Amino acid sequence: MSVEAGYNQWAATYDEVTNPTRDLEKKACESLLHDKISGAVLELGGGTGKNTGWLAERSERLVSADISREMQAVARAKVTAANVEFLIGDVKEEWRFGTGFDVITCSLILEHVEDLGHIFRKAANALKPGGLFYICELHPFKQYAGSKARFEGGNGEQVLECYQHHVTDYTKAAVASGFAIEDISEWFDGGGRGEPPRLIAFLFRNKE
Ligand SMILES: C[S@@+](CC[C@H](N)C(=O)[O-])C[C@H]1O[C@@H](n2cnc3c(N)ncnc32)[C@H](O)[C@@H]1O
Repeated sequence: MSVEAGYNQWAATYDEVTNPTRDLEKKACESLLHDKISGAVLELGGGTGKNTGWLAERSERLVSADISREMQAVARAKVTAANVEFLIGDVKEEWRFGTGFDVITCSLILEHVEDLGHIFRKAANALKPGGLFYICELHPFKQYAGSKARFEGGNGEQVLECYQHHVTDYTKAAVASGFAIEDISEWFDGGGRGEPPRLIAFLFRNKE
């Protein structure tokens, strides 16, 4: 099943089922970006709009893009603010999301993208000089242990196509596109440090 078809199925239950990864990412996003959102913002893989309303309240203009029409339909029903534009698009292709963004966010989508270099090259072009690129993904430690995006579909458990990314895959691809690494943080279940982190978050600064 393609990633697009998988999320089109998952859309009906994505917000309802227990999903600690989804919930922890919301905390990471709000904690890391609460004083950094302004101007024009591009949200990649906005999904069912978990972060969309929060980002829209803090930005002048928000473009929320996703490959899945069904995921985005849930977001469109939730977020009706006039400063939000929803677009359907694939981040692995040419970007038709616009340019001149102050901030780009990318929450829980890059495990489905093999070529991180493409994403950083497009993000560098879409951001203003000095703009901020936020990424939060399943921690590589979780991926090494076999975690992948999965859901209960009509025919049982569906596991989506995922790619392993090491920490240095992100940082090297970012630096190759001219980004500076501003922050790397790890996010743990229950706020504890006794177990491997669930998420890793990066803040990259576009070259001036
Ligand atoms: C795990 S969900 C995360 C949704 C939301 N960002 C959140 O944190 O709840 C991943 C989202 O990325 C989208 N996605 C996956 N691959 C994509 C691609 N190549 N281009 C655009 N969106 C993609 C999926 O359709 C889905 O909505």
